[in-house]
Amino acid sequence: MKAIQFIRNSSEAGAAVDVELPLPVAGGYDLLVKIEAIAMNPVDYKVRPAEGSDPKTLGFDAAGTVVGVGDEVTLFAEGDEVYFAGDVTRPGTNAEYQLVDERIVAKRPTTLDVVKSAALPLTALTAWESLFDRLGIDFDNANGNVGKSLLIIGGAGGVGSMAMQLAKLAGLTVIATASRSESSEWCRNLGADHIINHHGDMPEQVRELGLETVDYIANFNEVDKVWEAMGEMIAPQGSLVLITGHRSHLDMVGAFKMKSVRICWEFMFTRSMFGTYDLIEQHEILKRVANLVDEGKIIATANETLSPINAENILEGHRKLEAGSSIGKLVISGWE
Ligand SMILES: NC(=O)c1ccc[n+]([C@@H]2O[C@H](COP(=O)([O-])OP(=O)(O)OC[C@H]3O[C@@H](n4cnc5c(N)ncnc54)[C@H](OP(=O)(O)O)[C@@H]3O)[C@@H](O)[C@H]2O)c1
Repeated sequence: MKAIQFIRNSSEAGAAVDVELPLPVAGGYDLLVKIEAIAMNPVDYKVRPAEGSDPKTLGFDAAGTVVGVGDEVTLFAEGDEVYFAGDVTRPGTNAEYQLVDERIVAKRPTTLDVVKSAALPLTALTAWESLFDRLGIDFDNANGNVGKSLLIIGGAGGVGSMAMQLAKLAGLTVIATASRSESSEWCRNLGADHIINHHGDMPEQVRELGLETVDYIANFNEVDKVWEAMGEMIAPQGSLVLITGHRSHLDMVGAFKMKSVRICWEFMFTRSMFGTYDLIEQHEILKRVANLVDEGKIIATANETLSPINAENILEGHRKLEAGSSIGKLVISGWE
């Protein structure tokens, strides 16, 4: 089968190469999926091979068709059209065929094509787990959430684009951050009630909205520079979720202790990496997201496409993501 492997930690020409690899065989809970479209995420460039390590087949988001099933598989059959975000410990989606555990896969939305479907899984899982598993917001109690406010830092990014939509469905008032006119407009189209600029004085902008504090903060981007501001903006007994690491020492006490703030982490790969007892939750979340899309409650977030899936376009995708200014998702589809 065709595959693209990174041979060094770079997005320059030659850092990834087109190769031929043996076709994997499905066993146990694995599905063998023929990959038709992949979406790019910042994790792709964050886990490129370090100097001196083996070449790596990267890529996490994909949509494709099941062409083989392991002997323990019960949820899928050959021919099913699926989407998934994969497992960071296994070879990824930058290949014509991939093995993936059925418990982190779902049938893709029937109302979207394969390109738009591929854009969804990783960001949908991260957004869902952040809001509903980590912050503890009850998705099914929209009436009970009315009047509660959520600040999303990084609204127009891949994760923010899904989180804004899910939070609105859950009844929350959503304040999203965006720093450009095009990213602000994108956030408004996806349902944000208010937009503030993460490069400005965020606490002051929140006060100008008539809010003293916010009940929840989902930080989907840079943490260090906004740490103090988050301490100022979060409500007493509020909750904060983080999905990216921080580079400097952060004062965990200060406002966060005085306000008894719950601070939690979300890592989308935790369930697959540790094979947690509730691994199948990711299958359930992706199923719910596909239904919400098919019911017209969630809009696709694919915003840019490249074709075909090859080393040249994957490197181009890495460079675009590294620039940090993506709006929505970049998808690469088809094989030459
Ligand atoms: N823990 C996990 O499981 C997990 C899962 C997914 C992603 N992540 C991480 O989360 C981060 C975001 O991922 P993503 O896919 O949403 O990224 P992305 O799509 O590349 O995000 C791009 C957006 O970030 C905004 N942005 C740039 N600098 C910002 C800043 N300092 N503060 C707030 N927003 C800023 C930009 O908006 P403006 O142009 O409006 O400034 C841009 O639209 C990445 O570091 C990624 O690795 C973690």
